[in-house]
Amino acid sequence: MNVNTVLDAALVEAASREKVRRAAARLWPGKEVCVSSQCPSVTSYVCRVSVEGEELVAKYSWMGLSLVSLLRGAGGSWNEVREAQDEYVRSADSITAREAGALEFLRALGRPRVCETGGLQDGVLFMRPVPGVSLPEVVSARPWETAALLESVLLTLADLHSPVGVARLRGLEIGERSVLGVFRRKFTGPSTSTYLTELGRDRGLPEYERQEIVELLRSTVGRLLRLVTLVPSRRSVVIFGDLKPEHIYVDGPRLHFIDPAVQWASGPEQDLAKLIGRTLLLAIAHPDRAAARQITEGASATLSRYMNTVPDRGRTQTLRTVVALWLMDTVNILSTCLSAPPALVLASHQAALVAQARTIASTVDRASALLLGTMVGPRLLDAVFSEVGHNTGSLR
Ligand SMILES: Nc1ncnc2c1ncn2[C@@H]1O[C@H](COP(=O)(O)OP(=O)(O)OP(=O)(O)O)[C@@H](O)[C@H]1O
Ligand SMILES: [Mg+2]
Repeated sequence: MNVNTVLDAALVEAASREKVRRAAARLWPGKEVCVSSQCPSVTSYVCRVSVEGEELVAKYSWMGLSLVSLLRGAGGSWNEVREAQDEYVRSADSITAREAGALEFLRALGRPRVCETGGLQDGVLFMRPVPGVSLPEVVSARPWETAALLESVLLTLADLHSPVGVARLRGLEIGERSVLGVFRRKFTGPSTSTYLTELGRDRGLPEYERQEIVELLRSTVGRLLRLVTLVPSRRSVVIFGDLKPEHIYVDGPRLHFIDPAVQWASGPEQDLAKLIGRTLLLAIAHPDRAAARQITEGASATLSRYMNTVPDRGRTQTLRTVVALWLMDTVNILSTCLSAPPALVLASHQAALVAQARTIASTVDRASALLLGTMVGPRLLDAVFSEVGHNTGSLR
């Protein structure tokens, strides 16, 4: 067992399921509750539950930490976690309580369409499953539709990104999912160097490859830390916050969204960065080269088209901000997956990131170097996308 893993994953899983079972029993007394399969997640504990035959999705967060950090001891020993957790759940500020509020806020706004809430009890958020197929599955099966799909996502968020969204957010912000915040939390402070050095130790990578990944990520992080000032701290619009394709479901012409982490931002750049960056990870993981190329081109076309809507004056800065956030987010999720203890079940797309870690690390390394250079505008965009293309083999 790795010395860095301090909590037993099976114990945490059993405790999470028990929390879900008890919360459902309190919410729906006398009804038959069955806690079934886990939905793999590196952040909260998520599983399916049936209540008197009705299917729900339950979500539980330990102290607002990711499951990876929790298992690595970020919340202390199991006894300390359990004690702190009681207090955390009682506070109106727990992450699932804010998520329930965010879902309500978005339902009042009308768009984007989000999942229905079934109830919130003792820190457990119950949601109704959204219909449709997840965006990664759709993009994977119909890669030629990537640009159209991404553009319909951005269109759906137009109201949220406008001043209309700003009015009612107070108290519901889920700042824990800020790309810059997560990046700073992971990569500034005394334990950063050890964190980087240990990445991937438990994920079965050949040691020479692992060390190469660590060095690529170390140089990327160094560059990106010099670029954090590219992200303005103004709070002028509301963003969806965790806009990855896995959080969007396509149901015919309708899009349904899950897991909003609404937060203030200076503009929609973070949403765009996550959507584009995570779509490119789908391209990197796609087994078919032609499909990978179509996905990359779709993402590139979406970003170019978006940039054309930005007034000339702010265009250079906006593009640099989007690229910086996209690279930070990619480093965040890659390092999270690489540091997940072996007992934590990764979703298939997360396992794919580990398998492609060297390609991804080399892409962000070269793209971050371009961002520090002198290129701007469409040339920068082309150069960054051509890095992605070369590294995925899709543009060879
Ligand atoms: N309302 C829902 N309908 C259908 N599936 C859902 C719903 N909520 C969650 N899921 C499934 O559970 C997974 C994890 O849920 P969610 O993203 O809300 O949790 P999380 O802890 O933030 O996970 P991650 O870190 O992977 O984003 C989703 O990717 C999806 O597969
Ligand atoms: Mg999520």
